Amino acid sequence: MRWESYTCRMINAPTGENIAVAAGILQAGGVVGVPTETVYGLAGSIRHTGAIAEIFHRKGRPHDNPLIVHVASMKQACELTTDLGRAAIDELGNHFWPGPLTIVVPASEGVPQAITVGLDTVAIRMPSHPVFLELIRTAGSPLAAPSANVSGRPSPTRAEHVQEDLGDEVFILDGGACEHGIESTVVQIIGDTLFILRPGAISQRQLEEQWSGNVLRAHEQGREGIVRSPGVKYRHYSPSASVVLSYSVDDALSLLNQHREVTIVLVPAIYVEQFSHHAVRLLSTVTLFDEFRRADALQTRTIVVLCDESVLANDALINRLRKAAGIDGKG
Ligand code: TXA
Ligand code: MG
Repeated sequence: MRWESYTCRMINAPTGENIAVAAGILQAGGVVGVPTETVYGLAGSIRHTGAIAEIFHRKGRPHDNPLIVHVASMKQACELTTDLGRAAIDELGNHFWPGPLTIVVPASEGVPQAITVGLDTVAIRMPSHPVFLELIRTAGSPLAAPSANVSGRPSPTRAEHVQEDLGDEVFILDGGACEHGIESTVVQIIGDTLFILRPGAISQRQLEEQWSGNVLRAHEQGREGIVRSPGVKYRHYSPSASVVLSYSVDDALSLLNQHREVTIVLVPAIYVEQFSHHAVRLLSTVTLFDEFRRADALQTRTIVVLCDESVLANDALINRLRKAAGIDGKG
């Protein structure tokens, strides 16, 4: 079937035929909603500047926030960077790819400025989701893809979320619920230090086990400005409900008393029983964005979150919670 004659342009099962349709859309310069193991992405071919512009437009994405380029092979990754970048990709990519690690490396001349927004680096990731990998191979080109949400909203972890945010005009491949439910970890190597620009599905400990030099969180080392990821300065991941963080059971209970109306409480698994008299939901990295969207669908006004030691120790989770609560990020 030719993609031009395709009429149903919404959520599509990941059959070989639909992957071919999606590849046709990408080759013709269009965009496609794609499943990944982290969150859903809105993909466009790096060879089509029109597709890149459409991604920014559909998301309402700030124009100073560069995109991640997704590849299906080491060869594709190496073509996007210089010798210095190839060494980093060899070292980290060979261990963590395919998977949720994004590596920022010097960009080769061929990488369009529309993707890097004029930076001299490019962010590269080889995803592990089989549907996305097959799509990259079938399309025959690396695919730029940010998360497929409207900028500022929680990232989509199901095909329905993509449709909710981007409407009925985007062809979406349905790969089911995302395995991690949170975005990739973004890293950059400078000298022998590995900087974590955005905490994500790969933990600092996993990186430390693999990297012989220092592993530092860029924002906590006062290195912002030297090493930074443009996206981290924005308020992100926010539901319409206001998100209020609490740091003890008593704290959470007193907040629930203050916000009696249409409030839900998100707690780690061990507290679910204790909060059973309230509208309690499970807090975890895998379900966080899903719960935010579910709360909005129920027109929840306030989401109280119990951040115990385990949550505070989970860099990726506390990072998303603080942003959703408006504690970090400029709005
Ligand atoms: O898991 C993920 O990473 C998902 C899936 C779709 O792959 N993608 C994703 O993309 O989260 P996005 O655009 O929502 O976030 C990309 C992050 C942003 O914070 C952006 O600023 C940063 O990566 N980034 C991209 N290129 C960069 C570069 N050259 N230098 C520093 N940071 C970069
Ligand atoms: Mg995003």
